[in-house]
Amino acid sequence: MFLNTHFPKAKFYWYEGKLYDWSQAVLHPMIHGLHYGTSVFEGIRAYGTARGPAIFRLPEHNDRLFHSASVIKMTVPYTKEAVVAAIKQTMLENGLEAAYIRPLLFYSYGNLGLVPKASPVELTVGCWEWDAYLGEKSLQGICVYILPWRRVHHSQLQMTAKLGGVYVQSTICGLEARAQGCDEAVFLNLEGRIAEGPGQNILIVRDGVLKTNDKSESVLEGITRTSILEIARDLGHKTKVGPISKEEFFAADEAFFTGTAVEVIPIVRARDASDPNQTVKDAVIGDGRPGPVTLEMTKAYKDIVGGRNKAYERWLTYIRD
Ligand SMILES: Cc1ncc(COP(=O)(O)O)c(C=O)c1O
Repeated sequence: MFLNTHFPKAKFYWYEGKLYDWSQAVLHPMIHGLHYGTSVFEGIRAYGTARGPAIFRLPEHNDRLFHSASVIKMTVPYTKEAVVAAIKQTMLENGLEAAYIRPLLFYSYGNLGLVPKASPVELTVGCWEWDAYLGEKSLQGICVYILPWRRVHHSQLQMTAKLGGVYVQSTICGLEARAQGCDEAVFLNLEGRIAEGPGQNILIVRDGVLKTNDKSESVLEGITRTSILEIARDLGHKTKVGPISKEEFFAADEAFFTGTAVEVIPIVRARDASDPNQTVKDAVIGDGRPGPVTLEMTKAYKDIVGGRNKAYERWLTYIRD
């Protein structure tokens, strides 16, 4: 019996064409993906709007899911349209107005050699209500722990893909950040520059210019990040994409995380443990409070995902239409 304690309002999940009661398990413990992280996934959000629930940038998430699948050499036995249909059906059957949606493709039950030659690729979709990912207090600004370990480099694995196994590093480092008294972790890349959070991109603001990095810095170019860059430009801000040094990060007027789960979260303090040969240093970002640009972006993003800004209707998929 599986309780939905940490999956509020989840009633059913979708697996291989059928809906199952949330409390019911149908998968075997010997599935390939469970042992080796041979899965790919998406994190998507749907928001309540005046026209019912709307999924934010669904085609872009779906494209990324298929891109991730190609990186791990999956032959996906579904079309993109079928994945969209599964997502919509799961949302509708759960009756959720706003939700976090998790499609997952994985090498399933067949063999346990590292090469999944007899393990079929299967799809599951879950959705549930998920409020502020880092807690309500995070909206007032968080402290990040700059890790002594470097992010997996793009020359080692394609970091443009959401591969299950890569998230082992995110989990270990997220736990370490909390053990060190911070709210979340930040990775430097192998070059020693700011990369990303375990599941978030980083933007900084200096003299009114918003800046973030790209995949050449070993980050996932998040859909929220890309949306915020476009929104910022539309609001008349200058934006820049390029490497962010640690010094630039500490000298920023503002910094914030973006991501589907966290949305837009101000970073107001940092604990720098990135150099094992030096003592850990604490720093304040800007004046230690969420800055005006961050707050402007938070509001603009909320309005857009909530369907209150007609100029961005194209980013919403209404599921009851
Ligand atoms: C490693 C990593 N970076 C950045 C992001 C932010 O991406 P998005 O805005 O598409 O959710 C995510 C979340 O998917 C992530 O897992």
